Amino acid sequence: MSFVTLQKLSKRFGDANIFADIDLAIPRGVMCVLVGPSGCGKTTLLRVVAGLTDPDSGRVLIDGQDMTRAPPQRRGIGMVFQHYALFPNLTVAQNLAFGLQQLKLPREEIRNRVRAMLDLVGLMERATVRPRVLSGGQRQRVALARALIMEPKLLLFDEPMSALDAQIRKRLREELMRLQRELGFTGLFVTHDQEEALVIGDQIAVMQEGRFLQVGTPLEVYNRPANRAVARFIGDFNVLEPPEISRVFGQESSAAWAIHPEAVRIGMDEGVTARARILAVRLLGSIVRTELQVAGVQLKCDALNRPDAVQIAVGTEVSISILPQNIRHLKD
Ligand SMILES: Nc1ncnc2c1ncn2[C@@H]1O[C@H](COP(=O)(O)OP(=O)(O)O)[C@@H](O)[C@H]1O
Ligand SMILES: [Mg+2]
Repeated sequence: MSFVTLQKLSKRFGDANIFADIDLAIPRGVMCVLVGPSGCGKTTLLRVVAGLTDPDSGRVLIDGQDMTRAPPQRRGIGMVFQHYALFPNLTVAQNLAFGLQQLKLPREEIRNRVRAMLDLVGLMERATVRPRVLSGGQRQRVALARALIMEPKLLLFDEPMSALDAQIRKRLREELMRLQRELGFTGLFVTHDQEEALVIGDQIAVMQEGRFLQVGTPLEVYNRPANRAVARFIGDFNVLEPPEISRVFGQESSAAWAIHPEAVRIGMDEGVTARARILAVRLLGSIVRTELQVAGVQLKCDALNRPDAVQIAVGTEVSISILPQNIRHLKD
């Protein structure tokens, strides 16, 4: 049985339909990522799960209990937001202790739990400083620790890393995944960043305009997008409409084709083939991305970089090929 179940949740603000008929089942211990463009309703849905916003209809079940109308503090949840709301006048350790003090736990126990948590998130050296002297990444680490120390059954994250720069975001992401593995909490993580979603999520729900387009594992969503919108949003796919397929490959198709950039191969002739012209070559970290032009259609081609890679000159004519099993046919 799933740990979190959302049933037919709908919400309107005035005339605006924010989301409708949202169903979702998150198994215990799973990190579910809600990913979609800005404004699609992610935060509102998260607030409904948290109890900060009432849904118009539908139900929120947490650990088998109907929590639809329960106040936030009764739901056993922890929350981490984009803008950390740390207490500026308290030290890091005092920030962590605060919630436990509200519960009137014995001082010894509070001290031990704060120490263990500081150790777990690598902030022991910063225990006695105030948030203002911390970096953005460290502050988010404190916010995370402050949520975790309450041992919530469910952790909700609303774009907690969006304000951080890329390198710190990557490190914090790894930290979060380690903590989730070690502590085994269930999470619902909201982001507009596809890459972050694929890395962090055990389960991904792709949201657009208040609806789920697809729910699945990262590999399912990435390799088998349910429709064009998922293919465009998640995979960075080449999406070719039937007239383009006919122009580029001389084949008739009633469905669109979605082709991963890494499935387009240069200089081989197995599968469907075409002649293409190189428009640009760019290095994306360990990937070489080549932009190609075929019959007025642009295609992206990704290959792993190698130390001995030779750059093909812009303007060169090459043959490209795609294996049939790497073409995804999309009806919607
Ligand atoms: N309290 C509110 N009153 C009216 N409209 C709102 C309110 N909160 C959010 N919205 C609208 O709901 C839509 C979804 O917002 P939100 O859930 O914040 O999306 P996201 O988090 O995906 O960016 C937006 O169009 C936003 O303007
Ligand atoms: Mg939001």
